[in-house]
Amino acid sequence: MKTSARLERLPPYLFAELERKIAEKRSAGVDVISLGIGDPDTPTPDVVLDALARAARDPATHRYPSNRGRPELREAVARFYERRFGVALDPAEEIVPALGAKECIFNLNLAFLDAGSVALAADPGYPVYTGGPLLAGGEVELMPLRAELGFAPDLVAIPAEARERARLMYLNYPNNPTGAVAPAGLFEQAVEFGRAHDVLIVHDASYTETTFDGYVAPSFLEAAGAKEVGVEVFSLSKGYNMTGWRTAAIVGNPEAIEAYWRLKTNIDSGMPEALQLAAAAALEEGDEAPRRMSEIYARRRDLVVGALREIGVEVTPPRGSIYVWAPVPEGHDSASYCELVLEESGVVVSPGSSYGRSGEGFFRISLTLPDERLVEAMERMRSSLASG
Ligand SMILES: Cc1ncc(COP(=O)(O)O)c(C=O)c1O
Repeated sequence: MKTSARLERLPPYLFAELERKIAEKRSAGVDVISLGIGDPDTPTPDVVLDALARAARDPATHRYPSNRGRPELREAVARFYERRFGVALDPAEEIVPALGAKECIFNLNLAFLDAGSVALAADPGYPVYTGGPLLAGGEVELMPLRAELGFAPDLVAIPAEARERARLMYLNYPNNPTGAVAPAGLFEQAVEFGRAHDVLIVHDASYTETTFDGYVAPSFLEAAGAKEVGVEVFSLSKGYNMTGWRTAAIVGNPEAIEAYWRLKTNIDSGMPEALQLAAAAALEEGDEAPRRMSEIYARRRDLVVGALREIGVEVTPPRGSIYVWAPVPEGHDSASYCELVLEESGVVVSPGSSYGRSGEGFFRISLTLPDERLVEAMERMRSSLASG
């Protein structure tokens, strides 16, 4: 059987060895605790489930949806953006539903890249920013996130040659995996960059609703001129505990959204309509859910940061996202440390290097586990690793 050259372009899957070890441990009877994946552990809010149940019983939702989306959802997104960010969106042309941010980000690569063109991707970053362009036949230029710039990329440092060939730039704040929030002025700089080099800025807003300590995350579209050069991908997955429902929307620049829509009409048939109505209910009536979840994650963050400090791992408490990003102790690289943690304590943490080469030297802990399990995981790490 011959697979495509396209598939061969993907980098080796860094979790493969870790996954093999997890399976081995589990089959040996070890109670492995995984802090590896960011998948909310508490249920989808009732207001969403009730809307879904009602909508599922209406046969009008049983037929093919349209990729434009139902007006109820597009209008709910517009009202949410106005209320939450003060951003005005035209539901007819500036909003299209997506089957999760992942689908949307991947397909933007197909819509905008050709052989020889480049996507500028935050490093470390969500792996689809780098895998997507390769599968689409394009190239990737990594933009290292610089701790001294608040985990912003240095846009001036992007090589001229990559700048010329770039068509897309991926940014994401609050950030996975670093937990950083949008550094002051970055969105404005990105707008300038997009204008100067004709690059579509794609802001991945997967974590804007999950923030702590009174911090309120902005939308990229709040930056002056952002809609001329950019789009935002807003996901309900994390903020509303809806990872399983695959609900997101792309909003912003109408030409870019039209290109995405045109591509999608050839690929899938849109978000099931009952889910569209459930997503609309989340945005119209579910404001309480992300607020409640943020309180829970803030408490877990404090627990994890405190425990890490006790074993000598110094971390900056994140103000957003559902992750703690921590340096690996001296004498280890990301992969060897994560293997050691698994070996010694039966706890899975993610190697920073799996998010890009600038993630080397770090590991990521996800906060999406009940408090008791998180306490146990940290206790196990403390007792088995305190000696370094
Ligand atoms: C930065 C980022 N973008 C996108 C996604 C995927 O979101 P969705 O569930 O909407 O596809 C994730 C999931 O972990 C993520 O961390």
